[in-house]
Amino acid sequence: MKKLLKSLGPVSAIIGAQWGDEGKGKATDILSEHYDVIARACGGANAGHTIVIDGKKHIFHLLPSGCMHEGKTVVIGAGLVLHLPTLLEEIQTLKTHGIEVLNRLFISPEAHILFDFHKEIDGVMERMREEKRGQGIGTTKRGIGPAYMDKAARIGIRMEQLGCDLTGELTQRRDQVKNMYGIDIDVKLEIDNLRRAASLLQNRIVDTIDLLHELLEEGKTLLVEGAQATLLDIDHGTYPFVTSSSTTAAGALQGLGIAPKMLTSCIGVAKAYCTRVGSGPFLTEMQGELAERIRKRGGEYGATTGRPRRCGWLHLPDLIRTARINGYTHWNITKLDVLDSEEQICVGTGKRSSAEAEYAVLPGWQESTVGLTKFSALPKNAQKYIEFIEEQTGIPAALIGTGQAREQMIIRS
Ligand code: IMP
Repeated sequence: MKKLLKSLGPVSAIIGAQWGDEGKGKATDILSEHYDVIARACGGANAGHTIVIDGKKHIFHLLPSGCMHEGKTVVIGAGLVLHLPTLLEEIQTLKTHGIEVLNRLFISPEAHILFDFHKEIDGVMERMREEKRGQGIGTTKRGIGPAYMDKAARIGIRMEQLGCDLTGELTQRRDQVKNMYGIDIDVKLEIDNLRRAASLLQNRIVDTIDLLHELLEEGKTLLVEGAQATLLDIDHGTYPFVTSSSTTAAGALQGLGIAPKMLTSCIGVAKAYCTRVGSGPFLTEMQGELAERIRKRGGEYGATTGRPRRCGWLHLPDLIRTARINGYTHWNITKLDVLDSEEQICVGTGKRSSAEAEYAVLPGWQESTVGLTKFSALPKNAQKYIEFIEEQTGIPAALIGTGQAREQMIIRS
C-alpha cells in the first residue's frame, strides 16, 4: 500500500471508465483512509453507493463514500446538484449509527439546489422522449437533467441562497413550470425543505476553493471521488444516452475548482466485464443465459433504481478512449471473481458492424479467485487476462477486486 500511495501522490481522482457502477466506492473506501480530504465534484443523487454499517446495507447518493472514515474532511464541490432532503437524510442515518459528519462537511456555495419539482420534470421529460423517439434515456428520475438545465439557463438556485426567502422566485417558477410541463410546484413544501436544510447546513457552506487550496498548501492530501463514469459524460459519452454533467477527471477538477496540473494521479475504475443501466448503445452486450449468469453472480441491479443492469464483455476501445480522456495512471479492475466460472472470456477489440463487436477470445480460469489478495496467487489465465488489459491500454492494474468485502482486493505497487 505504501508504494501505491507514493505513486498516487497527494491529489488523486477515482474516475469510472464505463457506464457507472464499476465499484468505485470500494477503492475510495480503501484509499480514503490514507487521504485527509475526500471530495465529490459533480452529479447528484443519481449516484448510489452501498455502505454497510453495523451489518446493515445503506445506499448513499450524495455524501462521498469516504465520509465514513471519522476525522476526514468532506467536501461537496460546486459541480453538484443537491437534493437537500436526501442530503439531510444521509447525514442523519450516519448520525444514528454514531458517525458525525456535519462538523467536517463543507459545501460549496456554488453548488446548485435540486428541488422536488426537478424530479417531476425529469419524469415528464422522460415520458415525452418515450412518446417522441420511442425510447427514453432511462434516467434515474432524480431530477438531474432538469437541475443542470436550470444551471445552464442561468436560472438555477445555488447553495449561497439557502438562507434567503425564495418564495417569490419559486412562485414565479411555479407558473413557468405549470405552463411548460403541466406540473404543480408545491412551493410550501419546497420552502419547508429549504428551511429545514438551512437550519442544519447554513454554517457548512464555505468557499470550498479557498478551503481546498489552503489545505493542499498545508500539505494535506485530497482524494476526488468521481460520480457516474466517462461513457455517461455529457460531452464524451454515448450522447444522448448520458447524464447531464461532466463525469471525467477534467470535469471533477472543474467541479472542485482545482487546476489540472495539481492532479498527481487518476485511477480508472473498470469492471472485469461491463454493465449499463438505462438505454443506449452497448456493443459488447451479452444475451440470454450468459447475461443472466453474470447479472446474478455480479449482483447487477441498480443501487439507485433497483433496475437489472445490462451486462456485457469488456470493450478495449472504450478503455483506451477513456484512459486518454482522463489520463489514467492506474487501473482498478473490479469484480474479477464474477468471471471465475466462465470457460472463455471475450474482450471487444473493435467494431465488426454498427451493432456487432469484434472479439479477442481468451481462455477462462474456472477456479475461484474470491478473496485473493496477491497477484501471484491468481490462476495463470486470470493473470493473463489482467496483463492483456494492461498491455493493450498501457496502464498498470494497481488494484484488482476479488470480492465484495473491503479486504478482497489485490493491491500492487
Ligand atoms: P440521469 O443521470 O438520472 O439523468 O440518467 C442518465 C443516464 O445515466 C441513465 O442511463 C442512468 O441510468 C445513468 N446513470 C446516472 N447515474 C448513474 C450511476 O451512478 N450509475 C450508473 N448509471 C447512472
